[in-house]
Amino acid sequence: MVRLALLLLAVVVALPAGSQSPPPGWREPRCAFGTAPFATPLCSELVATPDLQGVRGMLELRSIPTPFGVAVRADGSLRHYLVARFEGLPSAASLGGAALVAWGYDLTHEREVRLGVVTNGTTPLGELPFEYFRVLVSAEPVAGSRTRRGRLVARATSPNSLMLAHRDAMAPMMTPPGSAHAGHDMGWPMPPVDPRLAPSAMAHDPPTAAPWLPDTTGRPVVARRPTEVLQVADGDTIDLAAGLIRRTVAGRTFVLYGYNGQSPGPMIRAARGASVVVRFRNDLDLPSTIHWHGLRHDWRDDGVPHVSQEPVPPGGTHTYHLRFPDAGIYWYHPHVREDIQQELGLYGNILVGRRARAGVRVHREEVLALDDFLVAEGDRPMPFGSDTASHVLMGRIGNVLLVNGEPRYHLAVRRGEVVRLYLTNVSNARLFNLRIPGARLKVVGSDLGDFEREAWVESIVMAPAERYIVEVMFPRAGRYALLNSVRWLDHMRGTSALVDDTLGTVVADARPATPDYAAGFGVLREHRDVQRELVPLRAALTRAPDKTLTLGMQLTGVVPSVVAMLTGIAMPVDWNDAMPMMNWALTAREVTWTLRDDAGAVNMGIHWHFRVGDQVKVRLVNDPTVTHAMAHPIHFHGQRFVVLSRNGAPNANMVWKDTAVLPAGETMDILLDLTNPGTWMMHCHVAEHLGTGMMGMFSVAP
Ligand code: C2O
Ligand code: CU
Repeated sequence: MVRLALLLLAVVVALPAGSQSPPPGWREPRCAFGTAPFATPLCSELVATPDLQGVRGMLELRSIPTPFGVAVRADGSLRHYLVARFEGLPSAASLGGAALVAWGYDLTHEREVRLGVVTNGTTPLGELPFEYFRVLVSAEPVAGSRTRRGRLVARATSPNSLMLAHRDAMAPMMTPPGSAHAGHDMGWPMPPVDPRLAPSAMAHDPPTAAPWLPDTTGRPVVARRPTEVLQVADGDTIDLAAGLIRRTVAGRTFVLYGYNGQSPGPMIRAARGASVVVRFRNDLDLPSTIHWHGLRHDWRDDGVPHVSQEPVPPGGTHTYHLRFPDAGIYWYHPHVREDIQQELGLYGNILVGRRARAGVRVHREEVLALDDFLVAEGDRPMPFGSDTASHVLMGRIGNVLLVNGEPRYHLAVRRGEVVRLYLTNVSNARLFNLRIPGARLKVVGSDLGDFEREAWVESIVMAPAERYIVEVMFPRAGRYALLNSVRWLDHMRGTSALVDDTLGTVVADARPATPDYAAGFGVLREHRDVQRELVPLRAALTRAPDKTLTLGMQLTGVVPSVVAMLTGIAMPVDWNDAMPMMNWALTAREVTWTLRDDAGAVNMGIHWHFRVGDQVKVRLVNDPTVTHAMAHPIHFHGQRFVVLSRNGAPNANMVWKDTAVLPAGETMDILLDLTNPGTWMMHCHVAEHLGTGMMGMFSVAP
């Protein structure tokens, strides 16, 4: 036993840093020599010293497979697997060494990690534990040297380090760091609400848009009621009215929106296969519709304005016939000015009965809608653009985090309790990285069902509109924090720091949960039914895509100083609004986020035609070279898809999805399973990106 342990220890010690095996597909080049722009988020040139002519080198950041498509450490920093590619490297001997060795450093060069010997061709280097880093290649006199002594051959810097140029250029103009963290829950200075600085004012002279807030004149405003659970049976009819509500968020009282006076709106629980009728009444001051996100139902009930119905005017009504063909967690929200209506609280969940799997026991199920809300100074919601969305760059990322509409979620459990969480990201634009330190998290499902196999996870990364089903065990009595742990980027200073925001607490009391489900919880299950269905889809991995969608952005009429601020600096994923002023000021007049297909059609110019039964391979390419590349959660209405691969790496654990996030600079192949006839939308689910037109259409003939 001891010898086995020692042996294991020896193996662990002998492995180089970041020693996990390279992600599948790592040999396939991702960054072209010579053409990689200086600042794409995943490529960095390995620049040889000037005396070495004809050497070409590239450091590539490869994504590490996770159930979420984004790999992060507990501190919210992104994980990447590093690969070096070289051409024209001279021999180590000609440089007076025995081997060419790559080393990783943090930016202070205080910490050094040996990455291994490199040669011409492609070399897997492993992962570095640093958010910002440098890689040096040296000609080492001893191949196995533990620390760098030999002459320098090449160097690269992590692409995100370019951001630090901002710090160097802007530092004298900035206020001291401490002053930024005062007054607000989320701790950053809010732009003042100055009417002269309404959205568009920064980019246009004179300003053309007026700020917008809900108009209460002549409309009833009801006090917010707790969210009710509507258990619906096949054939039932329910009423949903969207209207103005008065509610208190983090001690401040606002007039916002709700369904039936509730925000989140009523939670609809239905059995799989059931049909219900929803009578919708619009008591808002804006036209609206309800979209039933993720349902493979009749397209005429899908709530898409001018496609499946005309928007319901204030005072108007509309009847929706819903069908719930798939077990899982869904949600509903307006499909008109989502930037306003979703932000102000119009969303609700639909939980469609899940068949209990043999041996899987949980003590309770909780449905959590994760949201944020942007409060301006003067205790009002940050005004919206009146005729177009504001904040169209990063999206409207709030400064108060909400779970089920409350800034402090609370759950009381018993020691050893196993809770199944149904999580939905209902925010306009925020990516969450959820953790519950001390508890064990097991991810079991996502948008439309179970993963092929369950997985232990450190955190759950969720983009807008994605859902995850996670089982959690609280092993000990005590308090557990539900955290959003992300890197807080300060674009101006070019620096980032861990911010752990507490979304709520779970308190486990000392009495043990009965019965004891610990043994069953400890097992990771293979979902054979899902595997049987999904494994054959992998045949599509080897065929060429049927369609390609390139995700990009165009800027018009933006003053050069603003363009300069944005250019060349992109993070694979943005967790916070690092440029609140600029973001706020940009509207759909200046920014157009785009989907472009292989035929050159853009946004609503795209209309694809398929037939029921088609399985279409779509390659999504998030163009890293646009002025400000960003992650986009891409949603297809009325169908389901699997992510086949990311960046050429096959997905080993698939799940049916309707929304998947694509970080900046990455490529994702999906297989769209066209089962449901009709005319449908596909779009980015960042409300403000959608608001600039980042959407296209497809029709499925019966
Ligand atoms: Cu929840 Cu068109 O989307
Ligand atoms: Cu987007």
